[in-house]
Amino acid sequence: MKMTLSGAAALTAVCLAWAQPVAAQFAKVDDAIKYRQSAFTVMNIHMGRLGAMARGDVPFDAAAAQASAKVVELVSHLPWDAFPAGSNTGAAKIKGDPWKDPAGFAKLQEDLKAQTAKLPAAVATLDGLKGQVGATGRACRACHEQYREVR
Ligand code: HEC
Repeated sequence: MKMTLSGAAALTAVCLAWAQPVAAQFAKVDDAIKYRQSAFTVMNIHMGRLGAMARGDVPFDAAAAQASAKVVELVSHLPWDAFPAGSNTGAAKIKGDPWKDPAGFAKLQEDLKAQTAKLPAAVATLDGLKGQVGATGRACRACHEQYREVR
């Protein structure tokens, strides 16, 4: 079957759209800020649930821990494409200038993803959970100390 010319053009358009940097997928800078802050909020809530188990504030529950760990792992991939250059505007609470050192900022992201990748398996036991939640939290803090403005 031959593809019609308009079909091929439409396919090309779709491919071009995919090739765009993801930041271009946000219509407005404010949308990117909302997206990344939402992702951080979701990660924070699930890290909080794991932290509560680590501290013994709530009983260890392997299934609930696993569910939260998977969310943290998945969502830890999301915020980074929502940092268009210079987007420390509006509701953003950024300290310093992460766009001045893209390699350093990316390294902090990679460090986090390396830790969150280990979370789902680690939380099978309470000891594993304590260790890996601690290591993941340190990866969060390493970046926050440099780049998050806490107001
Ligand atoms: C590579 C850097 C980096 C890492 C790693 C990182 N953060 Fe953040 N985080 C930021 C920056 C930058 C902001 C500020 C974003 C903004 O205001 O636009 C932020 C903001 C936040 C916020 C506030 C969101 C809001 O609504 O204002 C929370 C909560 C948060 N991070 C939680 C976490 C947790 C939990 C982790 C680890 C699982 C984590 N972050 C890992 C850089 C990072």
